[in-house]
Amino acid sequence: MDAIALMVNGVEHTVAAPPDAPLLYVLRNDLKLKGTKFGCGLGLCGACTVLIDGRAALSCDTPLWAVAGKAVTTIEGLPRGGAPHPLQAAFLTEEAAQCGYCTSGMIVAAAALLAEIPQPSRAEICAGMARNLCRCGAHPRIIRAIERAAR
Ligand code: FES
Repeated sequence: MDAIALMVNGVEHTVAAPPDAPLLYVLRNDLKLKGTKFGCGLGLCGACTVLIDGRAALSCDTPLWAVAGKAVTTIEGLPRGGAPHPLQAAFLTEEAAQCGYCTSGMIVAAAALLAEIPQPSRAEICAGMARNLCRCGAHPRIIRAIERAAR
């Protein structure tokens, strides 16, 4: 085990973990940030999406060594000044969560998308969210929520 420093949601942490430990495990088990979900563990579903230096990344597929010195943002780090992030508010308004398991990853991925394309077309939303799956089939409401947040 190595001591590895990383910045999560603006707070510096040092964790004792193998360098190849998945970031997802460190977030959930060491830092107790349970908002980031384990879906497939194989880089296929997007439930574990976080931001690394502002870009969407699959934390189940990201080794701890890869985030040393980088800024990681989880769903817990998105609210601003105690208020929900506009995407969180839009997901509530559009009732975009069915079971809710994919929602954290969806919102974080959408935050990266809107940072890159502030007013995306529907096609750009679909393309930008292609790595995030909703097994309940709530994609139409999720797309509407992202459109609402982009207004
Ligand atoms: Fe990471 Fe599914 S849990 S992509």
